Amino acid sequence: MEQTQVEKPLIVKKARITRGDKNKPFETELCKMFFKHRADKCPQIFHSYSPAYYEVLHEKRYEIKSFLEIGVGTNKIMNRMCSGDYEPGASLKSWADFFTNAKIFGLDIDETVLFETDRIKCFYTDQSNATSLEETISNIRSSEKNENLKFDVILDDGSHILKHMKLTYNTLSKYVRDGGYYIIEDIKKKDIPLFEKLVSDDFEVVKIHEGEFYWDSFIVYRKKENES
Ligand SMILES: C[S@@+](CC[C@H](N)C(=O)[O-])C[C@H]1O[C@@H](n2cnc3c(N)ncnc32)[C@H](O)[C@@H]1O
Repeated sequence: MEQTQVEKPLIVKKARITRGDKNKPFETELCKMFFKHRADKCPQIFHSYSPAYYEVLHEKRYEIKSFLEIGVGTNKIMNRMCSGDYEPGASLKSWADFFTNAKIFGLDIDETVLFETDRIKCFYTDQSNATSLEETISNIRSSEKNENLKFDVILDDGSHILKHMKLTYNTLSKYVRDGGYYIIEDIKKKDIPLFEKLVSDDFEVVKIHEGEFYWDSFIVYRKKENES
């Protein structure tokens, strides 16, 4: 059944969460990269994601040319998961280390966290609004001087509001290139079936990572190759 109550952004009330285990051995190179940049996507800091991400993405590591993540990250939201030493763009910097041939695009509603480096470029978007999302893609395409740019990976780690996650998938999934991935993070366990059903005809579900706690899961959709 559709969720009807109004959801609030996922903000953790406690001053600090001590879920990660910094003494846990690194299972993959990607875990080390997230740890180095203080991104909460590795078990050493918070989420159980990095070994599962490595499994899905490592074979394509050097082929990936364009990676887009919704959610640059703010200190206010992230410090509680990252022991107070979070810096905006932690996951974008980790992805840039991992996908050495890729341009990394970060999107956020909070313009104070947008930044640019040689391979990372951030843009404003409001993922609750399809027009804003479309305008942002148009801005990225203009800035890249490529009106047909598509993304090898789109990852939604933004507001985590169910309605926004669905709207963002329905708006942005057409910008994934054939054979590329669309990932939605921080799914609550009870919502996994909703996201399985969200898949459109041109995608298939290739991974459901069911994590260790209530909102520690993600889903990976893969865009089918165009056979014509
Ligand atoms: C969980 S944080 C992203 C963390 C980052 N990906 C990392 O791992 O380092 C979520 C981000 O989503 C942004 N956000 C919240 N609502 C949004 C919206 N409607 N549109 C776009 N971004 C939004 C917040 O400002 C915040 O920076």
